[in-house]
Formats: sequence, C-alpha cells, structure tokens
Amino acid sequence: MATILVTGALGQIGAELVPALRARHGVDNVIATDLKVLPPSGAAAIAPYGHLDCTEPHQLHEAVRRYDVGTIYHLAALLSASAEAAPQLAWSVNMNGLYNVLEVARGYGCQVFFPSSIGAFGPTTPRDATPQVTVQRPTTIYGVTKVAGELLCDYYASRFGIDTRGLRLPGLISYVAAPGGGTTDYAVEMFYHAVRYGRYTCFLSADTRLDMMYMPDAITAMMDLMAAESGRLRYRNAYNVAAMSVTPAELAAAIARHVPGFTVDFEIDPVRQAIADSWPRSLDDSAAHHDWGFAPRYDLEAMTTDMLARLKTKLAAARNR
Ligand SMILES: NC(=O)c1ccc[n+]([C@@H]2O[C@H](COP(=O)([O-])OP(=O)(O)OC[C@H]3O[C@@H](n4cnc5c(N)ncnc54)[C@H](O)[C@@H]3O)[C@@H](O)[C@H]2O)c1
Repeated sequence: MATILVTGALGQIGAELVPALRARHGVDNVIATDLKVLPPSGAAAIAPYGHLDCTEPHQLHEAVRRYDVGTIYHLAALLSASAEAAPQLAWSVNMNGLYNVLEVARGYGCQVFFPSSIGAFGPTTPRDATPQVTVQRPTTIYGVTKVAGELLCDYYASRFGIDTRGLRLPGLISYVAAPGGGTTDYAVEMFYHAVRYGRYTCFLSADTRLDMMYMPDAITAMMDLMAAESGRLRYRNAYNVAAMSVTPAELAAAIARHVPGFTVDFEIDPVRQAIADSWPRSLDDSAAHHDWGFAPRYDLEAMTTDMLARLKTKLAAARNR
C-alpha cells in the first residue's frame, strides 16, 4: 500500500494518531514528521520519523516521493493562543503549510486530512447547536486560517479532484502529550493539577461553555472519516464533530467527584477569554453522524473516569523512574 505521512506528528494529536494509524496499517507504512529535530534515540523510538518543515515545499515533495505517500494527515499548525501571539508566523505555518500540502497532493494524487476547528466560527455564528453550514466570520488569526483552509481544501477537491477531508474539532482532552497552546488547554491542565495538587487556577471563567472531546474519539473520527466511502460525503471541509459541551465549573465538579476536596479558582486571561467568547457553545454534528457514522463513546463522566485513571498511572510511573 502507499504510505501515510503525518505532519506535526509530535503534537497533542499526532502523539496518539501515529500509534493508532500504525496499529491499523503497519509501523513502516506511517511516516511521522515534525519541525522538531529529535536526537537519534528520540527519532529511533518513533521511527520511521523525519524532520519536515511544512512551509518548505521541497521538503514535502521529497518526503512524498521518497516514501511513496498516498495519504497525508496534515496536523502541523499554530493553535489559537499561540497564533494570536504570533499572527504572521501563524499565517505562514497554517496557510502556506496547507497550500504546500495540497500542491504536493495535487502532484502525487494524495488523499489529505485537514483538521479544522470550532475556531473557524466567530461571534456572528449561532452559538448553540451551530449548524454544519452557517456564518463563518472568525475574529482570530487562527480562525481566519481555519476558514481559509476549509475553503482551500474544498477548492482543491472541486477544481483538481483531490480527495480532501476534514473535521471541525472541538477542544481535545488527552493525557499522552501536552496541548500545544489552544484556548481549551485549561481542560487538560485541570486534570493534571487535580492529580498533582488538588487545586487549579483556571484562565477561562467558570461558565464559559465550549465543546470538548476525549482524544480516543477524535482519533477514531479522523480514521473513520478517511476510510468512509467518498460518495457518502456531502461535505469535504469540514464536518462538525463534538462529544460534550461543558464549562470549567462542570468539568471541575466532574473531577471533584473522583478527587475529593479538589478546588478551582479563576484568574481570567483576557486574550483567551475573548477567543472563547467568540466560539460556539455547542455544535450540531448530525451531518457527521448521518454521512459516515460518527459516534463518540465518551461523555463527560466516562472521559473523566478514564482520564484520571490513566493520568494517575502515567504520573506514578514518571515518579518511579
Ligand atoms: N488539540 C486540539 O484541541 C485541536 C482542536 C481543533 C483543531 N486542532 C487542529 O489539529 C491540528 C493538530 O493539533 P495539535 O493539538 O496536535 O497541535 P500541537 O500544537 O500539539 O502540535 C502541532 C505540531 O506541529 C509542529 N509544527 C509547527 N510548525 C511546523 C512546521 N512549520 N512544519 C512542521 N511541523 C510544525 C509542532 O512542532 C507541533 O509538534 C492543528 O491543525 C490544530 O489546529 C487541534
């Protein structure tokens, strides 16, 4: 089979997507790449691994040609808070990187996965049960690159026949790799602080409601979408997907049921609060359910139980090393 290339593979999603793809397709058929240059021992641990800067088109061409790549999961990007701190760099990585991926896909006939986000919506979007097709006027540079990315993927699908597919992912909660500078990072931090210290200072207000998803559901959704029969997909970029719509107060209460005495106080970060306030509170993901069978397994309670158990094991193992 033609191989799979993952860009930005060392991030929060890649850390779990790469092993899942390798379990399904074979280790040697999934090439992990990232901007980060790893020491030989680090690279060997996740081989096949290569340094790849997605803003350098020749590096992408070389990797796709050399490894006979048939599918690209393009994860490399700056996330919402990091992007707001460096808008010019965010444009370069998020837009030029995607353009380079689509161009190489056009040249070699690759299938492309592009992760969009709830950040592709803005303050004029209906905030509850946000429809699949609706107003998208984001006010962050991250959102601008996600909407433009969705449109560019649609264009390459209709104009050049490239098999592009995408999801509008909500905030992702996971324990394997740390989140990379997003507005929903508070949720992951809250779990770590609950286990380590029994308390957490949250940078979003207690009642900020946003969609979230546990990473195993996100990984399954990406792989299921890419495997779905093409003719069933009414949308290319990108399908709304969500699993739970929660506030920091609700997440804290769910954690406190397992970690007695856990407390949260609030020190609002105005930049990330403004970003969160411009996003939907909950997405309508019925099109994903209907078209390719999206069915998340984890609600707030199931995720909290699993996340705490795995995090405790992980942190205890780290302490004993
Ligand atoms: N994590 C979430 O909650 C979430 C939610 C919605 C959408 N997404 C999207 O999913 C994708 C992956 O997210 P993530 O959470 O894994 O991000 P992350 O920040 O954890 O990882 C991104 C990776 O991209 C790499 N990178 C940065 N610039 C690069 C470049 N020029 N070339 C190659 N690699 C580069 C970084 O080194 C990093 O390892 C992004 O497009 C993000 O917008 C993530």
